[in-house]
Amino acid sequence: MNARGVVRPPGDKSISHRALMFAALAHGTSTVAGLLTGDDVKSTARVLRQLGAKIATIREGSTVSIHGSRLKPSGSRLHCGNSGTTARLMLGILAGQHFRTTLTGDASLRRRPMRRVTEPLREMGATIEETGDHLPVTIRGGRLRGLVYTSPVASAQVKSALLLAALTGGVPVTVREPQRSRDHTERLFLHLGLPLQAHDGVVSYQPSAVSVRPFTLSVPGDASSAAFLVAAAVLAEGGELLIENVGVNPTRTGYLVVLARMGARVDRVNLRDEGGEPVADLLARPAGLVGTEVSAAEIPTLVDEVPVLAVLASRAQGETVFREVGELRVKESNRLELVAANLRAVGVRAEARGNDLHVEGTARPPRGRVETALDHRLAMAFAVLGTVPGADVRLSERRSVAISYPTFFKDLKRILG
Ligand code: S3P
Repeated sequence: MNARGVVRPPGDKSISHRALMFAALAHGTSTVAGLLTGDDVKSTARVLRQLGAKIATIREGSTVSIHGSRLKPSGSRLHCGNSGTTARLMLGILAGQHFRTTLTGDASLRRRPMRRVTEPLREMGATIEETGDHLPVTIRGGRLRGLVYTSPVASAQVKSALLLAALTGGVPVTVREPQRSRDHTERLFLHLGLPLQAHDGVVSYQPSAVSVRPFTLSVPGDASSAAFLVAAAVLAEGGELLIENVGVNPTRTGYLVVLARMGARVDRVNLRDEGGEPVADLLARPAGLVGTEVSAAEIPTLVDEVPVLAVLASRAQGETVFREVGELRVKESNRLELVAANLRAVGVRAEARGNDLHVEGTARPPRGRVETALDHRLAMAFAVLGTVPGADVRLSERRSVAISYPTFFKDLKRILG
């Protein structure tokens, strides 16, 4: 099959959540173009509306106006759906509010760890009721104190929750992480003129008289969604694919670095800046791949791309090892075990050994049934594997792609003509 033509990935999921949250905190009307229309972002919009923000309907291709004002208590629980970013970042925002709120989520989100956020927020002075490490969590914010925190995990959600608590609570915070995670929150702070310092993996916010003012923003295409299109082009037998308007923030594009090492060069053209974020068009072509070792230090820059990189590794010559990917166990599914099990289910030698993932490449066509566990990134990664010659990859479901890339199957079909 050939992959060719021009395609645009949907709006960046991480930036869409943050844009809505900052706009809800600004007193006045902000306008945001390019928002992701996926279910996760709709979850953030829904909970912000429950807290009094006025957010127009989020439709593909539309510019959305958001009217923010002081947040108000909600009469009911905030349901964060499948979205870890909604739950964890909202806990940060709620830590700065003088009222009581309960957050919950779907079955997958209710299995995901929350203490990584509730513990430091409690240290900042928020009152939190929880049973174990999971949602539902009830939080009453208010009078906070500053915090200097060393996070045990490289997590943008933890870092962002603490920055949002500091912003809404008017207190200083310093966050140090073992490796640098995605920095969209920091970039938005700076883009909106909020005082923030970041160097050597340490981020500090000092409160000032500056408040969040209404803004206009254009959200770039999602680098993580683009990764599936890149992978389809790399595995194709011919053609050339132009993927337009992709965010190329270096804290998100580790997969392009790894792909280059595996033998697939993806060109970045038309590099520009969009609201403090680097954006480019990507030009991807078929390539013969070789296995590689992905180091622990690289993982935060490609944490959501491990499933699709593992799929690519299954078509490479030799072995690929992903070091220290234990965090994948607590994503939308247990991605570490499921990537390995699903690769085995289609005839690939793959195994989780401790916190490392090993994948042995093969030229045999992948054939078998894949269990997505309703995880959007597993569905998309294995759908891409299903495009190689002779493949027969059957997915347990396809609807989960609505979380981050509602038009994925339509786009995949179109580029493969
Ligand atoms: C995200 C951070 C990452 C990532 C998730 C989105 C964000 O999670 O996996 O898809 O928007 O901050 P962690 O912070 O748990 O690593």
